[in-house]
Amino acid sequence: MLVLGIETSCDETAAAVVRDGREALSDVVSTQIELHRRWGGVVPELASRNHVLQVMPVVDEALERARVSLEDVDLFAVTSGPGLVGALLVGLQVGKSLAFATGRPVVGVNHLEGHLLAIRLDERAPEPPFLGMIVSGGHTSLYAVDDYGTYRLLGATLDDAAGEAFDKIAKLLGLPYPGGVEIDRLARGGDPAAIRFPRGLARRATCDFSFSGLKTSVLNHVQRHGRPEGQALADLCASAQEAIADVLTAKAMRAAREAGLSRLVLCGGVAANSRLRDLAIERGGEAGIEVHAPPKRLCTDNGAMIAVAGYETFRRGRGPTGLALNADPAWRP
Ligand code: KG4
Ligand code: ZN
Repeated sequence: MLVLGIETSCDETAAAVVRDGREALSDVVSTQIELHRRWGGVVPELASRNHVLQVMPVVDEALERARVSLEDVDLFAVTSGPGLVGALLVGLQVGKSLAFATGRPVVGVNHLEGHLLAIRLDERAPEPPFLGMIVSGGHTSLYAVDDYGTYRLLGATLDDAAGEAFDKIAKLLGLPYPGGVEIDRLARGGDPAAIRFPRGLARRATCDFSFSGLKTSVLNHVQRHGRPEGQALADLCASAQEAIADVLTAKAMRAAREAGLSRLVLCGGVAANSRLRDLAIERGGEAGIEVHAPPKRLCTDNGAMIAVAGYETFRRGRGPTGLALNADPAWRP
């Protein structure tokens, strides 16, 4: 079964052709990073307008690279939320129109389920049950993946998402958007023990997260010592990154232990962070937990993960899951 996945929830216009929910024949991502950079973050209206311009060329390129035609597509899968409303509408209209024109079905996909299932494109992907940690620009949540379509929220951030913390800290340091990638790069030359930043809720017996204290602490540091440069900047980046990676991995290990899960899958843009990946593998090794992470380009937003989740949704014969609701920190099963 060939699925065309379309993703336009934020600042990436993406499309991909995936065979049988496991094999990406193409995966095209047109990023708007340069467009939003001068504003220091994503401007929703600019994002929507750019999706309108990019979406058809991106879909055409995805079909071309997969060496298939529109008529070969068996199912259209489109991100239906959560995300920027105007941006989502662009992809949804295109998905629905292509389905109408070809007489094929279309399914709406929950963006978070897409992140959770991106690992399916890896040959060595674990089968459920496993623990999925979604760490992206908008979400930081731990889910027990009991089966495809059956997810239990075990913990979530009470304030900022991990990616948001990276981006806000980068902004304080005068680094370009998106900050996570810049901090990851600069941290490589820094000392992670240079500054001891707070680990939100670390000592609490909960699987929830909090990153607002870290952000304030970095702000205080910058106000006291001025904006760092050179080695001091690298040290600050490494220290802030260490605080985030430390608390994310500690909570993931706690959630895995409490839920009796022996496999952890890292998902979402922040799962591309090198320190987070290394530390998760190190701590997983100590705790007897097998750690998986998709290749970095499948961690950030892409169309292939939407095609995978769409395939699973269609196979189950159900609509998108209530993950958007579950991801709300106020929501509890
Ligand atoms: O999943 P994603 O592409 O979009 C959302 O669904 O939010 O995640 C984007 C987030 C941004 O906050 C970005 O700074 C962060 O992922 N990110 C990283 C890295 N690459 C992307 N954070 C830390 N280290 C990275 N290497
Ligand atoms: Zn995302």
